Amino acid sequence: MTTTEAHGKTRTAADVIAAESAHVLQVYRRNQVVLERGRGCRLFAADGRSFLDFLSGIGVAALGHGHPGLAAAIGAQALELIHTSNLFFHPLQGQVATRLSDLSGLPRAFFCNSGAEAIEACLKFARRYWRAQGAQDRTRFVALEHGFHGRTMGSLSVTWDDHYRAPFAPLVPEVTFVPNDDPAALAAAVGDKTAAIIAEPIQGEGGVRPLSARMAAAINETCGRTGTLLIADEVQCGLGRTGRPFHFSALGLKPDLMSIGKALGAGVPIGAALFSERVAAAAAFGDHGSTYGGNLLACRAALVFLEELVDGGLMKHVEQVGRHAEKQLRALAAAHPEIREVRGAGLMWGLDLDRPAAPVVEAALAKGLLINRTAETVIRLLPPYVISEAEIDEGVALLDAALTAATGKPQS
Ligand SMILES: Cc1ncc(COP(=O)(O)O)c(C=O)c1O
Repeated sequence: MTTTEAHGKTRTAADVIAAESAHVLQVYRRNQVVLERGRGCRLFAADGRSFLDFLSGIGVAALGHGHPGLAAAIGAQALELIHTSNLFFHPLQGQVATRLSDLSGLPRAFFCNSGAEAIEACLKFARRYWRAQGAQDRTRFVALEHGFHGRTMGSLSVTWDDHYRAPFAPLVPEVTFVPNDDPAALAAAVGDKTAAIIAEPIQGEGGVRPLSARMAAAINETCGRTGTLLIADEVQCGLGRTGRPFHFSALGLKPDLMSIGKALGAGVPIGAALFSERVAAAAAFGDHGSTYGGNLLACRAALVFLEELVDGGLMKHVEQVGRHAEKQLRALAAAHPEIREVRGAGLMWGLDLDRPAAPVVEAALAKGLLINRTAETVIRLLPPYVISEAEIDEGVALLDAALTAATGKPQS
């Protein structure tokens, strides 16, 4: 086993794992890999293994690893100024907000540090909006089955899977879940006490399930008819992941609030809630806040990411390489009958198996490919946006071999 230097002390990967198991809260069932270094779409472990990254830290490392432009920018920013608190102005929040407004059509941003915090802000300001209209009792939320919005009390309350919710009940009351492709159930659930509907344009953790065109139309119709606000959760599927700025536009959705995170800082934690002018108009000084939210380091990273995405042509690249990925994954599915469905867009894909996906994920790891499982039977792929067609081919070949190894089927 190779070693790693930390605080002047030589540590083996086994030491790292032992220290964690003694002192870190045991809520993550981690793979037995200590990742130390990354370059582009490759990750390198303490024991000498290397991996092709088809997961980007769950949709975060959009620029890949060890990106020189990002590293230089955050290094320079760290020497200049990292943090001021939101008691003062600094030059970068307005720049990031302007870029996000141009991309989303939602003119105002609140900066925070994670996707769940972005959801909290959306939930709070949906209620705040109705309170400002004098509708004090318009406080309820309608969410979709298979939806995932985070682990804080508010975001957990609109997250569907009982496995995440049950240990922490009671949660925020008056949330109704409807099947994610049932327009009639949606129409029936939304009433004059509903503040907002919350939906992911493509459900991520719930199994990479794109919202159907008819459900999107039903959301629009219901919001239009009742005045209910729409919160689009673009934390996982937004910010270029599907080859367009945000995926709500592919479905014709008209959100008043939107949550983003993950790719925004390309690895530096930052999230944001975006608001239409009418929702933003309900906000007053002191209504909400975050000590770290939108600090200079995080905003610098977001500016580098957004510049690469828009001016650097990365979104176009995702669209192109995403088409290639889709073709290769559909060919893979044709050769593997255990793949029931290929779902997704751009560089966000789920392969739904007719069996548990965990053994395939394990086999892929052994072969040098990082992927993960979600919703028991779904293999999820979220590679860095900078991935090349050749790397897609390499990863799909490794996945082919992993499927064969895990399912016992002879290679096609
Ligand atoms: C759609 C969606 N919303 C919200 C979240 C929560 O984000 P975070 O883990 O940054 O709090 C996630 C995380 O996976 C997500 O996929």
